[in-house]
Amino acid sequence: MTRSRPSSASATRAARPEVWRALRWIHAQLVRIRTRLLVINLIAVGVPVVGIHWARTFEQEGLKALEADMRHVAETLRTLLEKSVPPPAQVPPTTRSSSSRPARSSSARPARSSSARPARSSSARPGARRPAFEAMAPSLELMAKRTRMRVRLLDKRGRVVADSHAKGPPEGPEDVPTFWGSYQPRRIHPPHRPSTNPGPVYGRREIRAARKGQLGTATRYHRRIKRVFLFLAMPIMVDRRVEGVVYITRSTIPVLEAMYRLRTTLLQVLAVALGLTALMSLFLATTISRPLARLSRAATRLASGARDETLRLERRDEIGELSRSFAALLAKLDGRARYISEFAANISHEFKTPLASMRGAAELLADAPEMDDATRQRFLGNILADVQRLDRLVSRLLQLSRIEATLEHREVFDLRELVLEVVDGFAEPALGYELPEAALMVNAHRSHIASSLRALIENALRHSEADGAVRVAAAALDSHRALLQVTDEGSGISEANQARIFDRFFTTCGKSGGTGLGLAIVQTVVKAHGGEVRVNSALGEGTVFTLELPILTSRPRSASRG
Ligand SMILES: Nc1ncnc2c1ncn2[C@@H]1O[C@H](COP(=O)(O)OP(=O)(O)OP(=O)(O)O)[C@@H](O)[C@H]1O
Ligand SMILES: [Mg+2]
Repeated sequence: MTRSRPSSASATRAARPEVWRALRWIHAQLVRIRTRLLVINLIAVGVPVVGIHWARTFEQEGLKALEADMRHVAETLRTLLEKSVPPPAQVPPTTRSSSSRPARSSSARPARSSSARPARSSSARPGARRPAFEAMAPSLELMAKRTRMRVRLLDKRGRVVADSHAKGPPEGPEDVPTFWGSYQPRRIHPPHRPSTNPGPVYGRREIRAARKGQLGTATRYHRRIKRVFLFLAMPIMVDRRVEGVVYITRSTIPVLEAMYRLRTTLLQVLAVALGLTALMSLFLATTISRPLARLSRAATRLASGARDETLRLERRDEIGELSRSFAALLAKLDGRARYISEFAANISHEFKTPLASMRGAAELLADAPEMDDATRQRFLGNILADVQRLDRLVSRLLQLSRIEATLEHREVFDLRELVLEVVDGFAEPALGYELPEAALMVNAHRSHIASSLRALIENALRHSEADGAVRVAAAALDSHRALLQVTDEGSGISEANQARIFDRFFTTCGKSGGTGLGLAIVQTVVKAHGGEVRVNSALGEGTVFTLELPILTSRPRSASRG
């Protein structure tokens, strides 16, 4: 029987919502200015902290460099010693007892010739190299003075024969930098042991390695003086035999010094960064967070109906700009709200008049069954006219409301073709047109432009005598603008009325079904396209309406009628 285990895919699917929730939460936190400020501050503080951590790597590299120096010194010494030590045949013989005596007494003894003895047996004697090693002592002291390294020469059994620090550190104690402040002088070397006594060094790991012919290294912590020391032991080889050891000790003070400088600098940087970020946070909190919170509170109060609240903050920065934009937006919204309520009042009024008239006529018709046919027909005619006016009003209002909602549905078309189409729709002999040869391409809402042109032609025909000519012209004003003109030789418009004709519901033709919305619609359409409407009229002479529309491009073509 096989048991199905939950697949990893389904587990991932189950875990996904939690992951998404966590990511969304992180995102929501990150977009908050407060969190961003915190992150910036943490980064500012984190950089020096990382730097301090990085200093450990630096310390390691420094120690390696120090060890390399020790190795070079050891190699130089070894080469010198290997060359200066006489070949096995010339090595002065020493007695068996001399190997167990202190080194000094053995060196004081004059060297005997060993020419008669075989090389192998002479080199096997432990004290054979001692005089040559002891002779190096002054040089070792000089070397230690320059390099601050403790150099010891050990015979092949690991006993100290020569020591640069036999009389203590040649340059005196080395100053040790403390972590925070000034240098604190301390003795860095372990207590001196006389080289005549075989010290415990022969048992050390690095010495044991060197006595086997390998390079030995070690790092030790000196508990009493709380310092780290590096140790390097290099074998001295003669005829492939270990004849002694160069043993170098170095305190890690140079590295500590470099670390001290680095850490002090980093700590200073950290202190400055902390101070600066604290100041910056305080500054940002007062200049960004607080005014934003104030703005948000004011907006909330305004939204809940408070009218005495202002969004304007008297500041010259971006928040001031934002508050001014909000205040302007609020003013605009207030204006729009006022306009809507006025518009609603106008609409109610426009609807109320024909409705009242219809109601009166209907009541009269209902209350007077003996009414003669002619009066009845008159009342019915009035009702019909009112219904038509209401119908027209509704269509115009719908048209107006649709303009703003559908303005983005623009298309590129030739204005000349539109003029031809609209003019043809009227089938009016008095209506003529004049079009350019080149195409007039515009990027506009075609049907809105067409209904605007229709409204202008309707007005022109309405205010002209029956035989009065009405002319529609389209032309390119310049490379950017196209003109659409409707000219009539009708009644003209008085100057006082010219100032009001674009107002909604202004009409002098209420009785003949005029709504006063035709020109208001034309202006809304043209303005929404970035153009403008102008009127030029003289009473008794006629009127010219000019629409200016932004042009797109042009291509050659010609047409004319009338
Ligand atoms: N070509 C014109 N000649 C003279 N007066 C005009 C002309 N065009 C408009 N007017 C005046 O401007 C007023 C407003 O015109 P508008 O087109 O907005 O409304 P309307 O024509 O009265 O109503 P509707 O357009 O709904 O039929 C008109 O009542 C009229 O007095
Ligand atoms: Mg009109």
